[in-house]
Amino acid sequence: MALERTLSIIKPDAVAKNVVGQILSRFEGAGLKIVATKLTQLSRGEAEKFYGVHAARPFFKDLVDFMISGPVVVSVLEGEGAIAKNRDLMGATDPKKAEKGTIRADFADSIDANAVHGSDAAETAAVEIAFFFPEAHIYSR
Ligand code: CMP
Repeated sequence: MALERTLSIIKPDAVAKNVVGQILSRFEGAGLKIVATKLTQLSRGEAEKFYGVHAARPFFKDLVDFMISGPVVVSVLEGEGAIAKNRDLMGATDPKKAEKGTIRADFADSIDANAVHGSDAAETAAVEIAFFFPEAHIYSR
């Protein structure tokens, strides 16, 4: 397995529920290192750009409205196989389909308010990380 980085977003629903620490603990418990993190609130323009790949999808406006509805915690996670590991920890996009014990099964309410986002591949991870963090603000260790 290769050493990878992935982008994680703890979405407004999970921040509002005050479960940021519990979610970050799961990343650390699985051996992922938090090498960058910040609490921020996305503007509409930022959310539209970040999710640009979904611009033509029927759920795009609801997704953007939700993502700007409150602060989010954006982090870079680093570790062996970090992209797949984070996706396993998150569970299925739709919390109704997420396996027991996953972040979405435990903390998410709906497909939009689904607690977390994680990069789905190495190429998207690189783009998503650069969207939020300059290399100089990432502390590999
Ligand atoms: P996320 O991993 O952040 O990537 C895009 C988001 O769109 C996804 O999680 C969901 O929160 C949201 N979404 C809403 N409806 C759908 C859908 N039908 N398929 C995929 N994603 C959806």
